[in-house]
Amino acid sequence: MKKLFAVLGDPIGHSMSPIMHNDLFSFYQIDAHYLPFQVNGANLHDAVKGLKAIGAAGFNVTVPHKSKIIPLLDGVDELAASIGAVNTVVNEGGKLIGYNTDGPGFLKGLQAYGSSAAGQKILVVGAGGAARAIYFTLAKENPIAVDIANRTLATASELINDCPYGNFSKALTLDVAGINLAEYDLIIQTTTIGMSPNTAEQPLNLNNLSQQSMVCDIIYNPLETQFLHDARIKGARIQNGIDMFVYQGALAFEKWTGIFPDVERMRENVLQQLGGKKKTC
Ligand code: ATR
Repeated sequence: MKKLFAVLGDPIGHSMSPIMHNDLFSFYQIDAHYLPFQVNGANLHDAVKGLKAIGAAGFNVTVPHKSKIIPLLDGVDELAASIGAVNTVVNEGGKLIGYNTDGPGFLKGLQAYGSSAAGQKILVVGAGGAARAIYFTLAKENPIAVDIANRTLATASELINDCPYGNFSKALTLDVAGINLAEYDLIIQTTTIGMSPNTAEQPLNLNNLSQQSMVCDIIYNPLETQFLHDARIKGARIQNGIDMFVYQGALAFEKWTGIFPDVERMRENVLQQLGGKKKTC
């Protein structure tokens, strides 16, 4: 019988996951289909119950349901529980188990660029949901430090206090982070600043950036944000958000099928959906 996979979100029309996963199912000759469902908060409980009742094999969860889904599941793995957000659910023998592949997806993308978190001094810019997944994942990788810079200092401090993995972080204002920028080996921009249509904006002054640093932005629309543009001009290595998106999807696909898929194929697929641009930074 054809297996059903899905993504639940609100809105969901923009999601690139259905085309990306359906291409993989067809490429690996797996008899399955992946569908997007727009589900509002009031209907989330019924939607999850329905997917379980009809035996859906797994699904993704996106904004705004990544936290609210947790009490509706039968279990959640340790990393997802500590982050407090699930983006991937697997039907394991009739039980719905939640995972977070966003943080691990970022890490795998970083490793694919020959970089890592181990032994690095890292700056995370922003303290929202995406920052949380990335910070908790990197904190487990033996970095020298992971500091958090945020417009609202108290939110960065809360994030640091919530992290169960290690105790090596400072909360910084964006101005202070900008002044100390040369200290960091790896700088990760996790806010929505610079995302289309507000492409001229950027969160941090890069005047003090070292050209030895690597700079990542989790935004992929545009492929090169103003932040990445300035970092590239400064001579730093840069990485856009395509990798995190592709690798979170690859890790979800692996949990559902046991196959770690061809990420280059996925990247091409996503770039095509974004308008046929090939530039990956
Ligand atoms: P997500 O879940 O997608 O990560 P979020 O939880 O809304 O998004 O978090 C957004 C992040 O972007 C926060 O760190 C936010 O800073 P505050 O904690 O001060 O709100 C940051 N952010 C959003 N707009 C910003 C702006 N115009 N200037 C500076 N920081 C901004």
